[in-house]
Amino acid sequence: MASDRWSRVWKRHRWLAAGAGAGLVAGAAVWRVRARTDGELRWYGLVYRAAYRLGLVVWERPSPPPELIELVEGPTRPSTGRALDLGCGTGTDTVYLSRQGWDVTGVDLVPAALARAGRRAAAAGVAPHFVNGDATRLGALGIGDGFELLLDFGCFHTLPEDRRYAYIDGVSKVAAPGATFLL
Ligand SMILES: C[S@@+](CC[C@H](N)C(=O)[O-])C[C@H]1O[C@@H](n2cnc3c(N)ncnc32)[C@H](O)[C@@H]1O
Repeated sequence: MASDRWSRVWKRHRWLAAGAGAGLVAGAAVWRVRARTDGELRWYGLVYRAAYRLGLVVWERPSPPPELIELVEGPTRPSTGRALDLGCGTGTDTVYLSRQGWDVTGVDLVPAALARAGRRAAAAGVAPHFVNGDATRLGALGIGDGFELLLDFGCFHTLPEDRRYAYIDGVSKVAAPGATFLL
C-alpha cells in the first residue's frame, strides 16, 4: 500500500529531514542577525548576544567604576552636558550619569542589554536615550553630536582591529571640542 511505502521512506529518511529543518532554522537565525548588523556578521556580535541570552554577563557591575565617580563628583567635576556611553550594556553607568544630571545616550549592539538598561533607568526614575546600534557606525545612528563626556568601559578593546579606526573616527566626530573621553 502507498501509505506503507511512505511510512518506510519517512522512517529511513527522518534524520535527514530533521537535519534539513535544523539547517533552515539556523540559516534563518543567521540571516536575521546579519540583517540587524548592517550586513556584517561579526563573531563578537554573536558572542555578546549569546552572553546576554545565557545570562553570562560577567562584566556587569553593581555600581560605576571609581574613575567615573571621581570625574563626575570629584573636586574638578565638569558642568553637566551631553554624555555618550559606548557599549553601555545593562546601563549601570548610563543611569548613574542620568541621575547626576547628564543628558545621556547609551549605545549597545544587543537589544536584550538595552531592554535591561531601560528597566534599570525606569526603576531609577530617569530617562536616558538608549540606542541599539554599532559603536563603529555612530554616524548612522542619528545620535547627534556635541558630547562633552564620552565613556567606554569594555567595548573598544573587544572590537575587531579592522573596525577600530571607524570607531575612532565616529567618536571624534560626535565629541564636543575639549570633550573628556574615559576609556
Ligand atoms: C564588556 S561589556 C561592558 C558593558 C558596560 N559598559 C559595563 O561596563 O557594564 C561590552 C558591551 O559592549 C557592547 N558592544 C560590543 N561591541 C559593540 C559595538 N560594536 N557597538 C555597540 N556595542 C558594542 C556589548 O554588547 C556589551 O554590552
